[in-house]
Amino acid sequence: MTRRLGTERGDLEAAATILRQGGLVAFPTETVYGLGAIATNDRAVAGIFAAKERPQFNPLIVHVRAPAAAHSLAIWTPEAEILAKAFWPGPLSLVLARRADAALSPLVAAGGSTVALRAPSHPVARALLDATGLPIAAPSANRAGRISPTRAEHVLLALDGRIDAVIDGGACAVGLESTVVDLTSLPPRILRPGGTTREQIEAVVGPLAGAGPLEGASSPRSPGLLASHYAPRHPLRLDAVAVAADEALLAFGRGGPSGAASTLNLSPDGDLVEAAANLFAMLHILDCEPVRALAVVPIPFFGLGEAINERLARAAATRPECAPRKSMR
Ligand code: TXA
Ligand code: MG
Repeated sequence: MTRRLGTERGDLEAAATILRQGGLVAFPTETVYGLGAIATNDRAVAGIFAAKERPQFNPLIVHVRAPAAAHSLAIWTPEAEILAKAFWPGPLSLVLARRADAALSPLVAAGGSTVALRAPSHPVARALLDATGLPIAAPSANRAGRISPTRAEHVLLALDGRIDAVIDGGACAVGLESTVVDLTSLPPRILRPGGTTREQIEAVVGPLAGAGPLEGASSPRSPGLLASHYAPRHPLRLDAVAVAADEALLAFGRGGPSGAASTLNLSPDGDLVEAAANLFAMLHILDCEPVRALAVVPIPFFGLGEAINERLARAAATRPECAPRKSMR
């Protein structure tokens, strides 16, 4: 049974107690809902992989309260200092060399020698970090490979009965996961575009390493970036300039194609921040429509558009077929 908690003080204390006892709690962050476990607890971290059915080779982001907490977990660098100063707390995860004496379950790093760290800005996430006084490992609170959750009801649809509790803190403001930046070589490289834009990052640390996010998708340095991810149940068609009557349309701005079975608009005013906040919730809704396929209009590539396009490209990627059912003997 998954407990539904609110954001009152008593609810947050109950959530912190569940975490300290090795349980799994889904909680809101400013990006998406995370599925949290205390990052020092092997059994709890293993529970995250089991609940999400996440491949063991895909490492987890460790959430900390502030840079001071990060110093004991990773080998801090000048670039980490600059980026944390500019963007923490907020939607930016820093991949750094893990300290040999870091008190972290080895499962967090999936056998690697690095760790991804992020200080979230959402008050509920910060309250949990304060109350436990420990780092919290938290991937997005969805089943592996599916659409990410930006509301508590998305979490329950995917994980009800598989986790101990979910804190309902309403809709996530950013709506896209954090940007993951690799600082283990220089210049820094974006492994996953997200809620902090390339332009914002380059403004403080200078030009980033090449390899756009989509080439990065197969890089062995970012094991979680499988080609297919964020998968809706329906096929998804990108860059639609026309739409069929049996398709559901995800629009952006004004003057898009008409005639779809149903349409939602990420941002009628063409605002990429608003579009990011709506992306996963609208995909969740359209995916429940009785249509043949989903279609999405072209989205600009600058600012948050880079992360939106990356998520859509992976949502549209062909998925491996299910293994054929073996005959029962
Ligand atoms: O906004 C976010 O980042 C959300 C919230 C809950 O904080 N978390 C999130 O976690 O998106 P997850 O597990 O769904 O995505 C983490 C990504 C994965 O692609 C993973 O492979 C990558 O970060 N990652 C984690 N640790 C890494 C590491 N040590 N080296 C390289 N990539 C890493
Ligand atoms: Mg995820």
